[in-house]
Amino acid sequence: MDTSNQTTTPTVLLIDDERMNRLLVGDYLRDSGYAVLEAESSADGLRIFDNARPDIVITDLRMPGGDGNQVVTQLQAIAPDTPVIIISGTASLEEALCTLREGASDFISKPIREMERIKQAIDSAMNKARLDRESRHVQIALKDEIQQQTHELRDLNAQLKQALESTVNALGVIVAQKDPYTAGHSERVARIAMALGHAMCLPQNRIETLRVAGNLHDIGKVSVPGEILNKPGRLTPEEFEQVKIHPETGFEILKDIPFHGPVAEIVLQHHERYDGTGYPRGLKQDAILLEARILSVADIYEALTSDRPYRQALSHEEAMAHIIREAGKTLCPLCACAFTAANRSGVLSAIARNEHSQCM
Ligand SMILES: [Fe+2]
Repeated sequence: MDTSNQTTTPTVLLIDDERMNRLLVGDYLRDSGYAVLEAESSADGLRIFDNARPDIVITDLRMPGGDGNQVVTQLQAIAPDTPVIIISGTASLEEALCTLREGASDFISKPIREMERIKQAIDSAMNKARLDRESRHVQIALKDEIQQQTHELRDLNAQLKQALESTVNALGVIVAQKDPYTAGHSERVARIAMALGHAMCLPQNRIETLRVAGNLHDIGKVSVPGEILNKPGRLTPEEFEQVKIHPETGFEILKDIPFHGPVAEIVLQHHERYDGTGYPRGLKQDAILLEARILSVADIYEALTSDRPYRQALSHEEAMAHIIREAGKTLCPLCACAFTAANRSGVLSAIARNEHSQCM
């Protein structure tokens, strides 16, 4: 809180071209405990103001060589905190209002019948100026506080994001140790899914969700026995039933992690098929999250183009033909369309060469 005006004698600059008025008002103010500076013109007054920086200015309105309005205007520009009181015997009501609009603190008509009116105007104007200053200080302090808290929240958010990323990576490592095929597969599925998301012009937060869900979509395979995951031949129906549990296991692992998007639900749905022939719930069409439909296309393409213990990889063209053939059947036609668009842009071949493309 600024207390400067409460501990020192306030200085008043009195500007009036009539000597008698200066004497009358000046003596009254000195008797009332103020220090008084006097000027006989607005130019003189502004010069004295510049040198002495008084606490308050009282000025006549009409003076030769420049009027009181000029004093108000110039002080508003160079010292907006300094109150200016107008005293005039000739101004109309409209002129008085005009000076207040220009920034004057008060207007007193001459002849002054009660000198006490001047003291009241000074006290009131200085109180208002003090409150304005304090209000500004509070606003600045609040702004600083808000900026500080915003920075702290941003730092905290970055730390949480980093912690979440580390958790995701750690989960990926657990699955990779059990099923080495899954590690590279999940990373490539994530990159292909993101490319499809870009081709569909999805917002960045949904593309980020595709990245996380892609990396974690097979996390539930931790519950599938290693001998089944690494079996060189085809799985028996019983073994396949055990593998089919992995989307639900993945959901259970991820459901309480505070991801920004519906990662756990996408993982649960990544083996659902557009025509309802998928698992675990046999969802159809739009009942399947768009991100899960995207992930299905990416997952199938990546699986088809990879060597597996029981078959050789298909070529890119063969896998593409499969996706186009299944569009509208097991695969979402919109996602298949995005796949062909991503293919035309060269993003898929960049991923195949394990290169980073610009849009990813
Ligand atoms: Fe899977």
